[in-house]
Amino acid sequence: MPIGYGLSMTKTSTHSAFLLAGVLGWPVHHSLSPALHGHWLARHGIAGAYLPLAAPPERLSVAVAGLGALGFVGANVTVPHKEAVVSACARLTPTAQRLGAVNTLMVQPDGGLVGDNTDLYGFTQHLRQAAPGLDLRGRSVTVLGAGGAARAIIAGLADLGAAEIRVANRTAEKVHRLSADLNLDLLAVDWAERSDALADCVLLVNSTALGMSGQPSLDLSLAALPSGAVVYDIVYAPLETPLLAAARERALLGIDGLGMLLHQARPGFAAWFGVQPQVDEALRTAVLAARATAS
Ligand code: ATR
Repeated sequence: MPIGYGLSMTKTSTHSAFLLAGVLGWPVHHSLSPALHGHWLARHGIAGAYLPLAAPPERLSVAVAGLGALGFVGANVTVPHKEAVVSACARLTPTAQRLGAVNTLMVQPDGGLVGDNTDLYGFTQHLRQAAPGLDLRGRSVTVLGAGGAARAIIAGLADLGAAEIRVANRTAEKVHRLSADLNLDLLAVDWAERSDALADCVLLVNSTALGMSGQPSLDLSLAALPSGAVVYDIVYAPLETPLLAAARERALLGIDGLGMLLHQARPGFAAWFGVQPQVDEALRTAVLAARATAS
């Protein structure tokens, strides 16, 4: 069987039905979510499968409308569908409404869809776990990027009490749009000034794909970042990006982006399969093994 088909046929299952979920994306074959949910299905002895569901943008609405008829209990939604799927939902959770994006669908008994967004939860949970001593209340933070990932991260930073959120983005206009959409008073920083923006910051988050394998590198100096600051990179391929290596050289706590992926998956799994799964070393190892096989 190809890797990533999260199939579990265990006989120890306490569930009578075979439960189906999946991830809608285009393309989707590189998604690590099937390995992630497949690990949890096996770990909890649930008979079910979590499948990659490749839906091109022009067929998304048909694909989503068919989930209930096909017996799916729900699905994750990934690039490029997170915003487009909003209009297919009968109801949105307050977080999905706030972010204007959905990454988790729950199929209701009548076939209608509830759309949630667990990216914010994934980021804040992971940050809390990885940097338990970090208190953002009343402090300044810097975020690089203002795309889809930044939306959830910035809302999460506001929820954690950050007093000043500096956002450096190549396209300044997007920061103003984000500010308006999230109803937050963000401090827009010129992309050219990104290194200087780090002064007095207790946290730096890279929400761009810069530094990912196959992407351009991130040109940034950490010199202005105070000692004791935390550096969070949403990139997880490689696990230690040049940014995180630079943080390590400065003896700063560096956090890779894999944990955000793992944590954002928990609420969906709990809603679909009725078990609250844990993020632990075994899960991380399983997902990293799948990544190694896929690349
Ligand atoms: P995601 O959903 O992963 O956040 P996205 O919405 O396409 O993806 O956002 C990508 C982010 O990376 C944006 O902030 C983008 O900057 P622009 O808004 O100016 O496009 C940033 N980004 C991508 N490539 C970049 C590059 N070469 N230099 C600087 N920023 C870049």
